[in-house]
Amino acid sequence: MTAGSRRGADSARDLRVARRHLEKGRLEKATALLQTVLSRDPECADAHVEMGAVLEVRGRRLEAMRSYHQAARIEPGHAAALLRFARLAYTSREIEPSEVILAALEASFVDAERPPLDSSEAQARDVSRLMGAQLEARHDLRTRCLAPYRDGGGVEAALIERLAADRLLRFYLAHYVNVSTGIEYAATLIRRRWLLEGPGPEGPDRLAFLASLALQCFANQYAWFETSEETAAVEILENEIAAWPGEGDGVPALERFLLHALYRPPAGLPNATSLGAAADGWPEPVRTFARAGLAEPLAERAIEAAMPRVTPIEADSEAVREQYEANPYPAWRHHRAHRRESFASFARRHFPKLRLPWLAKARKHLLVAGAGTGREPIAYADRFADLDVLAVDLSRASLAYGERRAVELGVEAVAFRQADILNLADLDQRFEVVASQGVLHHMGDPAAGLRVLVGLLAPGGLLRLGLYSERGRDIVVRARVAIAEAGLGSGADEMRRFRFEVLCQPESHPLRDLLLTGNDFFCLSGLRDFLFHVREHRYRPRDLKALLDGQGLRFLGFELSHAGKRALYLREQPGDPEMCDLDAWERFETAHPKMVEGLYRFWCCKAGEGSR
Ligand SMILES: C[S@@+](CC[C@H](N)C(=O)[O-])C[C@H]1O[C@@H](n2cnc3c(N)ncnc32)[C@H](O)[C@@H]1O
Repeated sequence: MTAGSRRGADSARDLRVARRHLEKGRLEKATALLQTVLSRDPECADAHVEMGAVLEVRGRRLEAMRSYHQAARIEPGHAAALLRFARLAYTSREIEPSEVILAALEASFVDAERPPLDSSEAQARDVSRLMGAQLEARHDLRTRCLAPYRDGGGVEAALIERLAADRLLRFYLAHYVNVSTGIEYAATLIRRRWLLEGPGPEGPDRLAFLASLALQCFANQYAWFETSEETAAVEILENEIAAWPGEGDGVPALERFLLHALYRPPAGLPNATSLGAAADGWPEPVRTFARAGLAEPLAERAIEAAMPRVTPIEADSEAVREQYEANPYPAWRHHRAHRRESFASFARRHFPKLRLPWLAKARKHLLVAGAGTGREPIAYADRFADLDVLAVDLSRASLAYGERRAVELGVEAVAFRQADILNLADLDQRFEVVASQGVLHHMGDPAAGLRVLVGLLAPGGLLRLGLYSERGRDIVVRARVAIAEAGLGSGADEMRRFRFEVLCQPESHPLRDLLLTGNDFFCLSGLRDFLFHVREHRYRPRDLKALLDGQGLRFLGFELSHAGKRALYLREQPGDPEMCDLDAWERFETAHPKMVEGLYRFWCCKAGEGSR
């Protein structure tokens, strides 16, 4: 063995032990070992990553970011370094430009020529913010206030050429919902110039850039503002595309098709089906766009038409149904393949004190009530090998998206059905587990919806709920007041206008914080669900207690995404070591309103044989 390979073997062993120390919370020992590895090999990327993890647990966020940055410099394709850096960067108000991070993004995404990091939606959200900020800096696109757009605003041909040639930018636009105001500003200027003056300048990357922009506009559901001049020009263009047979005329016609797709969904064209058929003969990258913009929505339409309906829809649910038919939510794209396990082992690990005899059954039944676009039921069925999932929702369009994605991902154990929760009581089936996230708070009487779900639970069954919090959504309350004062409804035009008005405000304006609350502000269905919902209820812990007590449910605890919160709670509420006392949570939140998230996610249990 050479001295070099011995050093490598020693480092690998020390890293393994350091990880174990970290897992067990032995931070001093982990740090000492990592320092030994780094003094032996200062360029060991893995050691920097582990050091970052230790620093994170110690609450030293900036130093942790520096460690991840170091690892990314040494090994630009180090996925964990980049993802962890992105996660921490996500919570910064401003993200510093960094050539190292740009190189790491290039190596991990563009050079790999596929979305390489098997990303969950959360990871995609972190990466998109980081990528957007770095691209903005690379091209000097730091516009924060979009007001000049209304008064004209121009874009140089040289900038268009430079942007078109940037493969990372094209990748970003094609794969993520853009969250950078600077990129939105530049892209809307380019779109307008192309529409009103014709596409230019000529260049080898123009078609690819157009296609990536079209994918972006499709993904953000046409959330970007347009002037009345643009609206009039798009109408003329739309008539032209509606009469185009989909072949002949070569690139100019394809460019006109893509240009239209920067403003309107092609699946809405009267000739969408014939264009979809012709798209197989189109060259790349137009074909890739056509798959997302035409083929998939048309396939969903067919699924939607055949979707079985198992209950009638109540009059009280109609407005909510209409909202989600028009704007299915969430518009998810990224899926993390889960490590498979049984629900039984998950439940035993998380609720070790519960005796749940039904866990021994080979197959358990899960009802996802208000499944939306299928992200939730697909995640359950993909992860838990012993679950059969029934996913119901009011919105056929949402369910169709879910079913298409389930087939595409090879997830078989989910049945999608249209139903109104309020009418599910007659269902001739009982479920060991019921999940309903982001649903009951949109009902006229959430307690009535909950009563139905509890009735469908088998004795001792588990229920996972997601409900809005009062304290975590104060910015939403403020935005809803502003929307009401402006007299805005929830049409696409009105939502676009509201969004644009916010983007025209100075950065110090209180509503500008909406840009930091996730991706919902940046795509239209997200915006509708987030700020323009027909109805929502919000809760404090004491309200949750009343709601659950009223149904005889036992609260089993919140899912906490913030590791430090648990430690703080246990220190401040020593009388509640199980963290299941909602009165104690009320006291804790009163003291720390800023720590409250927008959505409570928690588990509860229906009383029944053996559940205590
Ligand atoms: C915010 S989305 C949440 C989707 C999904 N649970 C998730 O977290 O990804 C709310 C969904 O609840 C559905 N919903 C609301 N009221 C419902 C009812 N009475 N019956 C069935 N579904 C309902 C809506 O149609 C919508 O798709």
